[in-house]
Amino acid sequence: MTRKILFDTDPGCDDASALSLALASDELEVVGVTTVAGNTTIENTTRNALSVLELHDRTDVPVARGCAAPLWRPLETAEHVHGSSGITGSPPVPDVETIDTSGTRFMLEQVYEHGDELTIVAVGPLTNVATAIAIEPDLPELIDEIAIMGGAALCPGNSTPEAEFNFYVDPEAAQRVVRDGNPRLIGLDVTQDATLTAEFVEELAERDDPHRTLAAWFGYSEVDAIREGELSGEQVVHDVTVIIDLIDDILEYRRFPVNVGTDDGDFRGAVVCDVNDVTGTPPTANVALEVNVPAFRNRIAELIEKL
Ligand code: RIB
Ligand code: CA
Repeated sequence: MTRKILFDTDPGCDDASALSLALASDELEVVGVTTVAGNTTIENTTRNALSVLELHDRTDVPVARGCAAPLWRPLETAEHVHGSSGITGSPPVPDVETIDTSGTRFMLEQVYEHGDELTIVAVGPLTNVATAIAIEPDLPELIDEIAIMGGAALCPGNSTPEAEFNFYVDPEAAQRVVRDGNPRLIGLDVTQDATLTAEFVEELAERDDPHRTLAAWFGYSEVDAIREGELSGEQVVHDVTVIIDLIDDILEYRRFPVNVGTDDGDFRGAVVCDVNDVTGTPPTANVALEVNVPAFRNRIAELIEKL
């Protein structure tokens, strides 16, 4: 049976790659897209989401524009990583508009319509998801699950020494989702290992569209996977990891009590995992700690041929 997903996203090149592969998958049905500010402004993330659907002739998928800023902090973006418009390559100018409903309202509509058949896949700051949970506290019990790309549970951050970008941008939203949402927490602990080789991306870049544009998105950042402080020459594609895990269970998880730092200092967006159960509190999230990289790469290669 296909898994219905609502894709909550801040495209963003790896978001665009993840949505492309989700659309290609027979195992997933994308029932809708909600956009959030993060990698770039809400105007750009929303236009970019529409461009991805246009590229793949999937403008049948509804897009709802979500939160334009974190719950209470000023928005901090990452155009230096994803390009001035938030996405590289030259994807088509979208011919379609968003639906009139706001992202959070549309998310709740999908929760009530699809219930326990729905997975919310959140690969940007968690502003939309946290707002939806604040409006509907039963949301996590009403749906199948929430799967997020975010956090650096037991590894260094990529935005500060402790914080991953999505959690850094809106730590209050991340705290609510890891506390109340019982999510799959797919963070840098595994996405720094779930990489594509430079050769794989270069071969794709030689092809026609949509593969050429996908190669531009895969190879989006000069920030390669860093190992022992050295650039590995391999390409991280953070958000893609969530999609491949939903298809093939490529990740190994452990359940911990998890919290997120919400101060204004070094611990903003930091993930606190009670690995040794010193607090005696019940676990709140499934934290991904290991990834099957060959399975990750094989599935991506297979999905690309379906685009
Ligand atoms: O830290 C990586 C995450 O932040 C990814 O989701 C990327 O798209 C950005 O949103
Ligand atoms: Ca993202």
